[in-house]
Amino acid sequence: MSKLWGGRFEKKPEEWVDEFNASISFDQELVLEDIEGSIAHVKMLQKCEILNEVDAKKILSGLQELYIEAENGSLQYSVEYEDIHLNIEKMLIDKIGDTGGKLHTGRSRNDQIATDMHLYLKRRTAEIIDLLDELQQKLLHQAEENIETIIPGYTHLQRAQPISFAHHLLAYFWMLERDKERMKDGLKRIDISPLGAGALAGTTFPIDRNFSAELLGFNSVYENSLDAVSDRDFILEFLSSSSIVMTHLSRLAEEFILWSTEEFQFIELDDAFTTGSSIMPQKKNPDMAELVRGKTGRVNGHLTSLLTVLKGLPLAYNKDMQEDKEGMFDTVKTVVGSLKIFIGMVKTMKVKKENMKKAVGEDFSNATELADYLAVRNIPFRQAHEIVGKLVLHCIQNNMFLKDLPLHVYKDASPVIEDDVYDILAPTSAVERRNSYGGTGFQQVKYQIEKAKGKVELSLQK
Ligand code: ARG
Repeated sequence: MSKLWGGRFEKKPEEWVDEFNASISFDQELVLEDIEGSIAHVKMLQKCEILNEVDAKKILSGLQELYIEAENGSLQYSVEYEDIHLNIEKMLIDKIGDTGGKLHTGRSRNDQIATDMHLYLKRRTAEIIDLLDELQQKLLHQAEENIETIIPGYTHLQRAQPISFAHHLLAYFWMLERDKERMKDGLKRIDISPLGAGALAGTTFPIDRNFSAELLGFNSVYENSLDAVSDRDFILEFLSSSSIVMTHLSRLAEEFILWSTEEFQFIELDDAFTTGSSIMPQKKNPDMAELVRGKTGRVNGHLTSLLTVLKGLPLAYNKDMQEDKEGMFDTVKTVVGSLKIFIGMVKTMKVKKENMKKAVGEDFSNATELADYLAVRNIPFRQAHEIVGKLVLHCIQNNMFLKDLPLHVYKDASPVIEDDVYDILAPTSAVERRNSYGGTGFQQVKYQIEKAKGKVELSLQK
């Protein structure tokens, strides 16, 4: 066997050098995109009369056969042919003879690989957008079921103020909405065709780049051939958006893990998303949530890795750029997998409303209510804060909660306090009354749910 680029060489690299050089072990993931890119290229060559009809037909039928074999998984790749492009070209020549050698007229592997990756990421991004939307729908569904479920809201992981559980879930809904928007925005820069940029400088053949771009469904073509083959911004953006998605999932994973502890007991994750211990029979471990939290690390790593690969590269193509692929594939796999896990977990989790209610009835997360109560009665907020702080200390020292204090203690603390204070201290009223726009008040949460529904339906229509 000889190399497709072997003419200028007097000897071949040794096998272990070939191994080091080759990308076929991972870029075979791009096989369908590679063949589709070639089909569009050939059709364009024929239309521009660079290839005659007989040759074009022959090449196209060879490529179509290879496409079917690729779909069946029956292609046999070889390290000697380095990457997906040369492997397919070699298979084509083996299949249809020397005419296959005309496929590479007017293009280079440099615009070819860029085209493959644009096609690939365009599809995967669309898939991820759909999964984000599906997870939003699951969160929305749980939110609708839990508008009046009250949990302690936390800051510093210390009980802060009571909130609607729906409000907490909806916070993640909006994070995912931004993730979806970021992915959609990234699509604009993925949806550009580099095909026809050649190795770096364009080509002497009278090609029609718009024609092949249109056949491949791209929205536009790169304006500069050097930029077309050197640009990996679209992958960087994808990795960056993916890191943010993973960061969001990781934060939710952390909450699920905490909430399903014996200490919290706010939710129970379905058996299908948990595992047992090989030694401790009682254990039910939230492994899937932990894995999503853990896998966030690798996606962040892929972003850093590609930024580092690119930072010192002169124009145009450099072989360093072959390093852009494995991280991208792994990111797609990780984000898709993590979203699917979360869709299942959110859908099946049991919300332990009673435990949440109990938690919120036995804490000081209603202290702000009392301070606000005093402030409304014309006590400067700073003083009100001080008065309530002292009452909290008194409760702690006497092993009780604010709702348990008799009215005379309140009166001693401040004469403006009347017996309507007990209504104010109830967690339901604390939530209900936070009716400022975007707040946790039930009315606001209902309004928020209506808005959220619009976002999901909107993206499903697209
Ligand atoms: N396997 C290469 C890559 O993934 C394809 C482009 C190679 N181009 C070249 N001139 N060696 O980057």
